Amino acid sequence: MHRFMISGGNPLKGTIRVSGSKNAALPIIAASLLIDGECCIKEVPRLRDVEVMKDVLTYLGATVSWEKNVMRIDARNIHGYEISEDLMRKMRASNLALGSLLGRLRQARISYPGGCNIGSRPMNLHLKGLRTLGVEIKEKFGYITAEAKELKGTDIHLDLPSVGATENLMMAAVLAQGTTTLRNAAKEPEIVDLQNFLNCMGAKVRGAGTDNIKIDGVKKLHGNEHSIIPDRIEAGTHIIAGAITQGDLTVTNVIPEHVEPLTAKLKDAGVGLEIADDWVRVFTHENPKAVDIKTLPYPGFPTDMQPQIMALLTLSEGTSVITETVFENRYKHVMELRRMGADIRVEGQTAIVRGVPRLSGACVEASDLRAGAALVLAAMAGENGSVIDMAEHIDRGYERMENKYNAVGARIIRVHS
Ligand code: UD1
Repeated sequence: MHRFMISGGNPLKGTIRVSGSKNAALPIIAASLLIDGECCIKEVPRLRDVEVMKDVLTYLGATVSWEKNVMRIDARNIHGYEISEDLMRKMRASNLALGSLLGRLRQARISYPGGCNIGSRPMNLHLKGLRTLGVEIKEKFGYITAEAKELKGTDIHLDLPSVGATENLMMAAVLAQGTTTLRNAAKEPEIVDLQNFLNCMGAKVRGAGTDNIKIDGVKKLHGNEHSIIPDRIEAGTHIIAGAITQGDLTVTNVIPEHVEPLTAKLKDAGVGLEIADDWVRVFTHENPKAVDIKTLPYPGFPTDMQPQIMALLTLSEGTSVITETVFENRYKHVMELRRMGADIRVEGQTAIVRGVPRLSGACVEASDLRAGAALVLAAMAGENGSVIDMAEHIDRGYERMENKYNAVGARIIRVHS
């Protein structure tokens, strides 16, 4: 177990660089299984989840090298089509290899990923879309076995714009016969990055970033180079770090449009922001004003930023209402924030946050990745010291978070216990 010991009360000042996006890297690495050649992926963040996806590829027989933030993958000789239960348990996003295995080998077997700390997270939309493409799917004894004689382009309407289902279906469709249209597709920037990756390897995908994605099947994909987009959730977390500690922080390697759902809210809350082409400066000397938040698929406010903005709003002047509409169980951080002096009441999918003038240090536990990030933010703003247990959750999505924050004035010590 890893533990963060944080001395609060230090305003963050200086510059902090955002790494490549975890949620773009995971499907892109999975998509490299489709390629008949070597591909080179740059700006790959050194994260635990990415390590697991690399292990999935190696397990299937791909050759993978990863130096600093550059990953080279050659999947020409893959021999396996089954992902072990162990790898599925380590990370549910291992299910992103389903679409690319089907595209490449026309067969795949994965264990059912099951629920997690934030919700039940079914795969019904992935499987329904794959069946429409001509895949025969059997769900038995906790395993999903999928096979297709051929994949045939078709029209698929997603009941809701699931990010993972959109990605899996894009990957299954690039080597299908004919044209596939995904309607009500997810519009997240990570979907656009996957489209750009696939197209630079020879695929014909268009429309990512809108409701409708069209994929003209091609015979094969070839190797090439691609750079992962900056992580908008990491960027957003740092912007809130600057605001919550009342510092003056410049966050670089940012695509400002990707963090606009957050920056628009922070402006309403009275937080000082300067926004340029590829950086955002955040500066403030007072607690924010209360604002209401409703999480929605992109370009709405991201569910992956809900715990972090809640940490900030615990210190607001007034009462904020947060409504979580994407996941059904994403308030585990509330109890921990309360231990730090926050005044939050949860009623169903709504959290009512009454601002308090200050937070105090406490011993808390990170229940998942973004909940952990929210606790780090609260602890950096809090008076005196805090201890955050299960900090390894944070490593799933932030590259050595404590080093980045310590370099701009925080005091965080990691202890292995
Ligand atoms: C991705 C992100 C995750 C983020 C989420 C929503 C990755 C690796 N993870 O997760 O960080 O929080 O998008 O922005 O990119 N659903 C169904 N049936 C399905 C699929 C999804 O009902 O077949 C529901 C889910 O339970 C959830 C909602 O749709 O309530 C959104 O899930 P989805 O967009 O699929 O999220 P993920 O791709 O799992």
